[in-house]
Amino acid sequence: MTRLDDRSPSATALEIPEEFFSVVVGAVRGLLQRGLPERTVRSNVRLEGFERYGGGMKSPLVGGLSVRLGLTLKIGNRELDGFVSLFRAANAGQRRVFPEIHSLIALPGDDERRVLVMDHLRGYRPLWWTVFQTGTSPRMVERAAKRCFEQIDRVHALGPESTNPVRSTPQTLYFDRLRAKVRELARLPWFEEARERGLFLEGRRGWLEAPPVDELIADLEEAIGPGPRQAEVVLHGDPHLGNLMVRRYGDGFAARLIDPNPSWGVGDYLYDVGKCFHFADDCGPARLWPERVVLPLRRHRGRPALTRPRFDPQLGTSLRRRQEALRKMLHAWRDRRAEGVGEAGDSPRWHLAVATATLVTATAVGSRDSERALTHCALSHLLQARAGLACSGP
Ligand SMILES: Nc1ncnc2c1ncn2[C@@H]1O[C@H](COP(=O)(O)OP(=O)(O)OP(=O)(O)O)[C@@H](O)[C@H]1O
Ligand SMILES: [Mg+2]
Repeated sequence: MTRLDDRSPSATALEIPEEFFSVVVGAVRGLLQRGLPERTVRSNVRLEGFERYGGGMKSPLVGGLSVRLGLTLKIGNRELDGFVSLFRAANAGQRRVFPEIHSLIALPGDDERRVLVMDHLRGYRPLWWTVFQTGTSPRMVERAAKRCFEQIDRVHALGPESTNPVRSTPQTLYFDRLRAKVRELARLPWFEEARERGLFLEGRRGWLEAPPVDELIADLEEAIGPGPRQAEVVLHGDPHLGNLMVRRYGDGFAARLIDPNPSWGVGDYLYDVGKCFHFADDCGPARLWPERVVLPLRRHRGRPALTRPRFDPQLGTSLRRRQEALRKMLHAWRDRRAEGVGEAGDSPRWHLAVATATLVTATAVGSRDSERALTHCALSHLLQARAGLACSGP
């Protein structure tokens, strides 16, 4: 066991960067001296073991009791500064939304690096795990997802002072990122021709023709423009299913959010909604099980053509049913939120949000088939966004 005052060799064993070790020790000591919040004591302090010292006749239970304090350290950069006010503002309500933050420590003499000390979420797992990897029933997936979306709603309901003063525009949230990703994809030989000449995508009813990708993005940007600032909220900024944590309690679930991106500040609520959807679309499991997606690149009328993602049938119907349950909850949530601001659930901005969330992960997964599956998914949403704008006008 590592003692609190152990020095650097143990830091390596703990995988805390050596230079952080003494500041972490200082922070944990300070925390114990100041006293832990009651909720932390209830959920994060555990009696870990009792070692009998033996021999005593009158007091047979003399021994060493170990107490464990569960904390999570997140080591990062200055972007962690934004976590503090967001977590605190969200947790000030009746429900805890994020893990409790205990301290944010800057490395002495280093302007950039930080370590965030927060409660460890004992027994929690990311939502994608509940959906894609366990034998949970679809009903349980529905309950877990509902709790997560309620937590995102709580973040969206915060006052703008809880986050970065930035007001994100569609340009920064969507278009700049889509363009950057297309530039990155353009380095892949299979995408090069598609970027310049356009691409056919297999749809539910045959082939869809996409114009060159840069053109598609420019069309959308012009149509959506900076536009009226609609339905702006405090954003979580990265609520994909890996950053939504759930813990089962009997037939119900508790949910916590982690890992926000407060640098987006205040912006379109659909950005967060789109992030949740990108795992639920057919390319979702591709990210988790790239080897199970089969996505040959074909040619159609002399141009590159992407077939719809097809999954290994071995994935099984129970997984499919859980995925459906997730989609059902996502749609219900999206539609309810859209109704609140008087727009259609599957608005062009929603398609744009899903496309952005999907495309920005396209080259991060390290599998050619996943790149194609995610690109297929993103481009078909961009096409639908454009079709929606053509119907309703900008
Ligand atoms: N407070 C916590 N308690 C328990 N587990 C946590 C906690 N924070 C993070 N985790 C676990 O660690 C994983 C990664 O954490 P996190 O999402 O903060 O970082 P990341 O996604 O790896 O990093 P980043 O997105 O900032 O590059 C989470 O999916 C979760 O399983
Ligand atoms: Mg994360």
